[in-house]
Parts: sequence; C-alpha cells; structure tokens
Amino acid sequence: MTRVLFVCLGNICRSPLAEGIFMHKVYERQLGATIETDSAGTASYHIGKFPDARSTEVAAGNGITLTHRARAFNTTDFERFDYIIAMDKQNLEHINRMKPLDSNAIVKLMRDFDHLPADYEVPDPYYGDRRDFENVFTILDRSCDGLLNNLAVASS
Ligand code: 4NP
Repeated sequence: MTRVLFVCLGNICRSPLAEGIFMHKVYERQLGATIETDSAGTASYHIGKFPDARSTEVAAGNGITLTHRARAFNTTDFERFDYIIAMDKQNLEHINRMKPLDSNAIVKLMRDFDHLPADYEVPDPYYGDRRDFENVFTILDRSCDGLLNNLAVASS
C-alpha cells in the first residue's frame, strides 16, 4: 500500500481538490487497492469544514465529488504517509520544519510532478475567482498524472 497526503494551508481549496483528482485517476487505473490518500492543512482555521464551494464546483464539473472534511497536518502524518505533497513553498517549509529526523516520508512540491515548466507552486486561489480555481484544477490535473506515473514506476 502506498499512502499519499496532500497538504495546503487551509485544507479547503487546493489539497482536497488534489486528493479528489488523484483518487479519480487512481480508480480509473484500477489502483484503488494499492493507493490511499488524504489531505490536511498547515493552518487550523477551517478544521471540520467541507471544501470551499468553488473547489467543489470545479471538481463536480469534471465528474469528481469532494467529501473531505478539513483537518490540521500533524506530526503523526510522518508515520502514516509515504509521500507528503505540498501545494506551495510555504507549506513545504512548514512540513519540513516539523519533520522528525528519523522520518522516511518523502516530502515534495506538487509541481515537482508537473511536466510543464512554470511556477513551482500551486497558487492559492482563496482570494481569487472562478478562473483561479479552474487554473488550479488544470495544474493539479497535470501534476496528479505526473505523480501517479512516478508512483507506478517506483512500485514496479
Ligand atoms: P487552501 O486555500 O490552502 O488551498 O485551502 C486557503 C483557504 C483558506 C485560507 C487561505 C488559503 N484562509 O486564509 O482562510
């Protein structure tokens, strides 16, 4: 079993969308028995909330249902997950600061898996509009393909 955790700031916009897109691809490739995912936020403002309606809508427009409830990233996540995937550099720094010295978890930026060379970050859409969420969807869709291909290679 490979366990993947997606992390952003609030756990209501980017990381639940990343998780939904990624699991959609996992099921399409019939890898559901081998990959588990979750998402979390480095901030605790939105704990317990469903994803932002704009993420839910852009997901639904692409046939994906988001059911996650926001939770805070915590140190036990380093034991529970093989891969911890940060949406931006601020999230990455936060995770790396918390990382126990003996943890084997692999911590990466989401866009390390984006084949289109551009920015290194999934931009925070919270103060944006519908177009910003569509842009985030497109970036996550590409990056999830890259991540899944990478995991498939790593496990074969
Ligand atoms: P996320 O977006 O990190 O992609 O979930 C945000 C959600 C909430 C806030 C910032 C970013 N906030 O400031 O409340």
